[in-house]
Order: sequence, then C-alpha cells, then structure tokens
Amino acid sequence: MSVKTSVDTNTPLTHLDEWENDVLERYPDPSAIAQEKATEEFRNYSATEKDSVREFYRLNHKYQTYDYVLQKKADYLAFNKKEMPVWSAFDFLNELVDDSDPDTDLDQMQHLLQTSEAIRNDGHPDWMVLVGLIHDMGKVLCLFGEPQWGVVGDTFPVGCAFSDKIVYPEFFKDNPDIHNEVYSTKYGVYQPNCGLNNVHLSWGHDEYVYHMMKDYIPEPGLYMLRYHSFYSQHREKAYNHLMDEHDQEMFKWVDLFNPYDLYSKNPNQKSWDELKPYYQELVAKYLPVTLKF
Ligand SMILES: [Fe+2]
Ligand SMILES: [Fe+2]
Repeated sequence: MSVKTSVDTNTPLTHLDEWENDVLERYPDPSAIAQEKATEEFRNYSATEKDSVREFYRLNHKYQTYDYVLQKKADYLAFNKKEMPVWSAFDFLNELVDDSDPDTDLDQMQHLLQTSEAIRNDGHPDWMVLVGLIHDMGKVLCLFGEPQWGVVGDTFPVGCAFSDKIVYPEFFKDNPDIHNEVYSTKYGVYQPNCGLNNVHLSWGHDEYVYHMMKDYIPEPGLYMLRYHSFYSQHREKAYNHLMDEHDQEMFKWVDLFNPYDLYSKNPNQKSWDELKPYYQELVAKYLPVTLKF
C-alpha cells in the first residue's frame, strides 16, 4: 500500500523533476510534436509519477495560503541562513540529487547548463545566459527543510480568488483562504491592474531566487526568474486583471525564456569542465563573490 495517499507527507515526489515532467506534458514542445518526438518523452512519464504529481498539487493548493506566503517571505527574505560563493551554491543544489538513483546524478546542474547553453547558442544577451544558469537556484529551499510543495510547482497569486486555469484547481477546496470574504474575491487584497510587484505569489524557488538576484541582473532577467513557473499567466493569461502595462511588456521576456526552461534537452551537451571558464567569467561579471541565502 502506498504511504503517499494515506497521510499528508511533504515528499510525494521521488524527484523534484517529476513536477517539470508534468509541466512538459501539459505544454509539450511544439517543434517536438511536429517531429513526433514527443511520444517518447510522454512514455517516460509513468502513471505512478502522475499520482505523485497529483498528490504534490493537492498539498500545494491546500497549504499555500496568503498567511503562509507572508510568513515564508519574512523568514527567507532576511537572507540570514547562509553565505557562500555561487559555485558552492551549485554544489549545494546538487545535493538535491537522490543518491539511490545513479541516472539522476548531477541532474540539477545539467538542467541549468542545458538551459543556459541553449540561450547562449541562440545569441541572446549574456545576462539572459546567466539567468538560464541560476533560474532554479532557489531550489536550495529544499535543503533548508522546506517541503516540496513550498519549493516547486506552478505559482499563482494568493490573497485573491484562485483561477480555474491553475493546474488541478479542484484542490483549492481545501485551502482555507477560499472561505475568507476578502481573499476569495476576484481582486482580493489587491487593486485592479495594480501591477504584479504588488501581488504576492505562492512561495517557492522563483520568488526566492528573484530576491536573491534583484540587485544584480537587468529587469527583464528578473521577470524571467520571478515568474518562470507562473504558468496560469504566461500560458493561460488568467491574471491580466492584476497586471499593469509594464508587466505586459516585461512578460514578453518571460515568454522568451520559458521554452528554454522546458525544452532544452541537448544530448550533445558540452562537459562542465569545458564550459567552466566561460561561466566563471560570466558569474564574476554580474554577481558578487558570495551570495546570501
Ligand atoms: Fe524553475
Ligand atoms: Fe528550470
């Protein structure tokens, strides 16, 4: 009997990547479909994984409340947990790899490099390459003991009505905020088109890395970091009523970034040793010697 469905456990996913596989199934690569490559990827996404992802979203939608988000922000945005060089942060991130599965060795780093290298190969600005490299750095939250549902998953605004365009909307029935007379309304605690900078999104690796990087990276890159998992907006346009004109303009960059995050799987990826000199220089150009977590 599966333990996963019996009680609330904070680890329904075997790997954090199971969430990303689910996103990929929802939003398949259009070019892969054209080449009929997609079926192979779908085959890798098993029924068991589907169940864990479902369970993952059940917990995510139940516990990501307005109060939870404010509490996590107060805690983590003080950046008083740890200070380390960026490269140690990558090593730290790689500890997320499940030791029991040799195939996932260095997966987190591979995903980051595949994303950044695809951006570089397409000739985008170097700060966007850097965004590719660091966009999932916020997943170190797992190593500070945060549950999977508070680190990854689609993000969405809290403090106002949950859109039915968010994946598994039915699970919001267990979120206490739907009974709050303000939070359950269309605009909730916000004003029409107040701008996303005034809106609290569910807590996770996106918001965390945005705050970590906000003094160092140009604004379009910050939008990419902060909203890369906000699928109900960048794919479904469910929250136009909270966005201002500047957000709409900046979301063109989020749209530009998203396919690199989802679809850059290069079987002929250069090795880290080969790429290291370029990335060391890039990191030194934009980021301080140590980062605060
Ligand atoms: Fe991410
Ligand atoms: Fe990613």
